[in-house]
Amino acid sequence: MNVIELIKVKKDYPLGATTVHAVRGVDIAIKQGDFVSIIGPSGSGKTTLLNIIGCIDHASEGTVNVNGNDVTAMSDRQLTNLRLHAIGFIFQTFNLIPVLSARENVEFPLLIMKNEKLSKKEIRDRAEKMIEEVGLKDQIEQKPYELSGGQRQRVAIARALVTRPAIVLADEPTANLDSETGEMILELMKELNEIEKTTFVFSTHDPDILKYAHGIIKIKDGLVHN
Ligand SMILES: Nc1ncnc2c1ncn2[C@@H]1O[C@H](COP(=O)(O)OP(=O)(O)OP(=O)(O)O)[C@@H](O)[C@H]1O
Ligand SMILES: [Mg+2]
Repeated sequence: MNVIELIKVKKDYPLGATTVHAVRGVDIAIKQGDFVSIIGPSGSGKTTLLNIIGCIDHASEGTVNVNGNDVTAMSDRQLTNLRLHAIGFIFQTFNLIPVLSARENVEFPLLIMKNEKLSKKEIRDRAEKMIEEVGLKDQIEQKPYELSGGQRQRVAIARALVTRPAIVLADEPTANLDSETGEMILELMKELNEIEKTTFVFSTHDPDILKYAHGIIKIKDGLVHN
């Protein structure tokens, strides 16, 4: 089953009097449990594609199916719900909440999943288990500023996975890390992909990353190249 399917997707951005054709007709099919990298030069459309898959942005044309939902037909409220339950996000700049500890950052998405009716204890236990899985047991009460870049990205990975999403999207998750730490982060993502069977789609500039991916989508000038 394809957990992500894009058919003839285009994305135009108005820019002053002109239009930027950021994505110019892309077909993508990603299966549940895949570990896929979107690779391509700056400006090729990687972030645009991830935002469309993550229902943060709408395609201008084409069909987008995410976790069995035709997202082009969904209301904003339904999209918010889909994002919260089916998708986890990891960002280049970590995007942790600075006043919250590692534990509280990871608990946060569970607290806002109101219809799940999780008890305080369940939330605490799930966050704790996830933080242990990313190797930060000893840093659990530390705030982001008390953590290294690699540790912050581990917290962000735990936060993305704690809701048990079908899909985790990561836009250049290693770009702000040194290459050794970046490799450790990718190894962790791969490990979690195997343990949790979560589908991972991540973008990168870095050709070294290729050895980690099951599937590679090469993108250039808004088009996929094989
Ligand atoms: N909001 C916007 N308004 C106008 N043009 C945009 C907007 N967002 C992106 N673009 C343009 O769309 C194209 C694709 O941008 P995108 O951010 O998807 O590239 P990218 O592959 O993620 O690049 P990078 O590797 O630098 O992050 C670029 O030409 C960019 O200038
Ligand atoms: Mg980008």
